[in-house]
Amino acid sequence: MSSTHSDNWQAMVREAAIGAAFRRLTLSAPAGAAEPPWEKIVARPVEIRSDRCIQVTYSGGGKNNVRNFREREWPRQFDDLLAGPFTQIHVQTADGDLHIRITRKGRVLISKGAPSVAGPAQALPHNRTKDYPLPADGPDSFLEAIGIKNQRGEVRPSMQAKFRQINAFIGLVEPLVVRSTGDEPLVPARLPRPLEILDCGCGSAYLTFALHHVLVHSRRIRATLTGIDRNREVIEKCLALRDQLGWSDLSFHVADIGAFRPANPPDLVLSLHACDTATDEAIAKGILSNSRAIVAAPCCQHELHHKIKSPHFTAVLRHGILRERLADILTDTFRALALQIMGYRTQVVEFVSADATPKNLLIRAERTQEPGNADAAREYVELKQFWNVEPAIEGLLGTAFRPFV
Ligand SMILES: C[S@@+](CC[C@H](N)C(=O)[O-])C[C@H]1O[C@@H](n2cnc3c(N)ncnc32)[C@H](O)[C@@H]1O
Repeated sequence: MSSTHSDNWQAMVREAAIGAAFRRLTLSAPAGAAEPPWEKIVARPVEIRSDRCIQVTYSGGGKNNVRNFREREWPRQFDDLLAGPFTQIHVQTADGDLHIRITRKGRVLISKGAPSVAGPAQALPHNRTKDYPLPADGPDSFLEAIGIKNQRGEVRPSMQAKFRQINAFIGLVEPLVVRSTGDEPLVPARLPRPLEILDCGCGSAYLTFALHHVLVHSRRIRATLTGIDRNREVIEKCLALRDQLGWSDLSFHVADIGAFRPANPPDLVLSLHACDTATDEAIAKGILSNSRAIVAAPCCQHELHHKIKSPHFTAVLRHGILRERLADILTDTFRALALQIMGYRTQVVEFVSADATPKNLLIRAERTQEPGNADAAREYVELKQFWNVEPAIEGLLGTAFRPFV
């Protein structure tokens, strides 16, 4: 068994628990009150009417409560479970075990070991390589056309990281779109029109093409995807590839995110590594268009880097890399709080391991209530006053935001 410390343990657990090799997840030793007061939660794959589902057993106070989730609902349920107060996490997969222990001081201790689940993998119908929305193995004319796979059906070495990023990103977006239980989903079937999805700062649009492929071709969902980028050259290439693929219902525009006026208001706004404050523009676009959900993986952030000052943080701010990381954390905290203030239930998660991209943080937000979350507004104002900064998101939201802060 090997032991290690890691700051991206959530992504490690996530990859293990979402993949096809997943066998069992045990969360125990809650540090605070889990709601309701569960002492232990166990999740494992089961087959229900020939569908692979995840069965979650919540135990506490001598009671067991069992819920089954469809496989596509599992990533979101998993994120909710991981956000709970459990300090011991054990993931068993066919490939190996992962133990996480969070100490009282918040240190995360990770150990990996040989698989403790004996015998062959459970006889469940699933892709044995990795349970990705886009399969890693085998020929795929679409992935070949966009340059991710070679003619032998292998992911090109230079595209491995991008492939993992978009697969993980889609894995988080998909349950928002197709969720069938729980909160009101973005169920396209209930919409009298296709679901409108806007990808801001789409660049070469690997994500836009891949999401279109998964939702429209594989899941048969009525969705209209639009990619925008201010770089004319990349948009011209996207349009050429779209025409080559014959996917005429995909659209691309040369546009600045802030200035873009979509023909129809988006239901879902995405951005994957849009530079610096372009992430704020994407979030603001989603909020101001009343989008049902917003998913953004921020990229480089320079906005607060030279603005943050505090006599209490002199020791941190003197080191460039620490200053940069602190500025990143504050920027994303302001974004998450702004979303909460505007009525979005918001999670900040690691969507993929840091080896696929060091920019592996993702903000996922769903509109669940009216704007005006007073607790979030108080936290936002306090944080802003402490650092004496005016975050970009605030200026972009303008008069829609001002009454609350
Ligand atoms: C790092 S690339 C990411 C591209 C793509 N989303 C991906 O993950 O592969 C960032 C893209 O955002 C675009 N971009 C940056 N700021 C923008 C803005 N304000 N409006 C539109 N596009 C922007 C850039 O032109 C660039 O293509």
